[in-house]
Amino acid sequence: MASVVEMTLPDWARPAPLQPLNLGWLDAAGVQVAVLRLDLIDPLISGNKWFKLTEHLQHMSRQDLAGVISLGGAHSNHLHALAAAGKRLGFETVGLLRGHAQQTPTVTDLQAFGMKLHWLGYAGYRERHAPGFWTPWSSLYPDLLAVPEGGGGEEGARGCQVLLQHVRARLPEMGWDGFDGWWLAVGTGTTLAGLVQAGGPIAYGAMAVPPGHGVVENVTALVGEADGYELIDASRGGFAKVDGDLLAFIEAAEQESGLPLEPLYTGKALLALRDNLHRFAPGSRLVFIHTGGLQGRRGFA
Ligand SMILES: Cc1ncc(COP(=O)(O)O)c(C=O)c1O
Repeated sequence: MASVVEMTLPDWARPAPLQPLNLGWLDAAGVQVAVLRLDLIDPLISGNKWFKLTEHLQHMSRQDLAGVISLGGAHSNHLHALAAAGKRLGFETVGLLRGHAQQTPTVTDLQAFGMKLHWLGYAGYRERHAPGFWTPWSSLYPDLLAVPEGGGGEEGARGCQVLLQHVRARLPEMGWDGFDGWWLAVGTGTTLAGLVQAGGPIAYGAMAVPPGHGVVENVTALVGEADGYELIDASRGGFAKVDGDLLAFIEAAEQESGLPLEPLYTGKALLALRDNLHRFAPGSRLVFIHTGGLQGRRGFA
């Protein structure tokens, strides 16, 4: 199992393109936006998920473990990427799922990728941060690495630091010699923390979860008192809450720009950018990270 990740990575981990985002409301404000298309790095293991997983997988490989056990919901982008990576790279995966057994398109994929599933119920899932939560799972699966929900933690953040290098290498394609800020969707804040650790320009995090859900604490735990970021509430009243204005905005933005979006993360993040454009002077250059998640869109069809 040693170095399976390093050996297999060059075969499929394509660098993400950086593309101009053409939208009338950006032009009107004189703000230039380039999209880092992490949704395009791979048909299955896409978005920020791969970057959040890489360091965990290297940990697994170094410890000679047989696979990964992790947590998520029935539409989880994280479990989807993890299960796909397990199938592709040849390691075992186990998913602990929120709620009661149900068959979503994501769950069907998890099963097809060979992930073993355990449904924890809602109360059981709420216990995931409790001391001792992992004890029975570690005895059941002693050869698996436990990875936190969403692929978070220090290893998750560290894996995202490389995104700064990715973008810097591609700036000439945009004709840019630098940029003024990142704009990205935030769930746990792990990806944003990696960007802050990397030391690039300020990272604006459009929170898909309402304030008070632990993002500030999580980011602070990962970056300390660093001031290279700002968090903005983009949740529109709750995680996964979708309203008509959001859906209309997504449809219009997709039609005008050709950029595919989903309503939970990237759609809300772009809408929050439009609503916060006053923060940026004409001539500002931003990199919007497309964090993927398009597979989860099937659950909304
Ligand atoms: C599509 C998508 N974008 C953004 C995020 C948020 O990432 P983070 O938890 O690192 O803030 C997630 C969740 O992990 C996601 O699935």
